[in-house]
Amino acid sequence: MQIRRLQPTDLDAWVRMRNALWPNHTADELRQDAERMLAGDPTPFLKIAVFVAEDDQGLCGFLEASLRGNAEGCGTSPVGYIEGWYVAPDLRGEGVGKALVIAAEDWARGLGCSEMGSDAHADNEPSRRAHRALGYKEKRPVVHFHKQL
Ligand SMILES: CC(C)(COP(=O)(O)OP(=O)(O)OC[C@H]1O[C@@H](n2cnc3c(N)ncnc32)[C@H](O)[C@@H]1OP(=O)(O)O)[C@@H](O)C(=O)NCCC(=O)NCCS
Repeated sequence: MQIRRLQPTDLDAWVRMRNALWPNHTADELRQDAERMLAGDPTPFLKIAVFVAEDDQGLCGFLEASLRGNAEGCGTSPVGYIEGWYVAPDLRGEGVGKALVIAAEDWARGLGCSEMGSDAHADNEPSRRAHRALGYKEKRPVVHFHKQL
């Protein structure tokens, strides 16, 4: 298993994993977003870096990291941020997620960051446990509102 930066030829496999992580988005939305990032557009962030995990079967995980001007729970600027983090179900708990996080943290550190932020759904206990195991402290919760217009 190796961790490396995303390459253009990873597009299809990356989009499939994005789809598995964000099933509420359409495949078209996720592909358009992915193509935009691959083309170098980091909007709405300052920078984007995508790391993938690859074994002899192909891609088995990814982490989309951003550089943000600020982030909830962080006190410095800019900060690194974990935007998307995914490992194939049959490989979870074997250190792949951790290796992806280390690569993203190294990237952010190299850009001068001293903090890294992330988020998870409150009911995503496995993700919360994995974050905590990797040294991420839970900060005060944010409540989101929605109104149909
Ligand atoms: C979250 C996720 C990316 C973690 O990847 P992973 O490869 O399973 O993580 P690792 O095996 O590298 O584990 C990293 C650390 O978290 C711990 N951990 C991972 N999953 C855990 C779980 N379900 N319960 C408790 N601890 C867990 C590991 O023990 C490890 O700690 P250690 O370094 O002290 O041993 C993976 O579970 C996943 O893809 N989940 C579904 C998608 C998702 O929820 N993504 C996050 C959205 S916020």
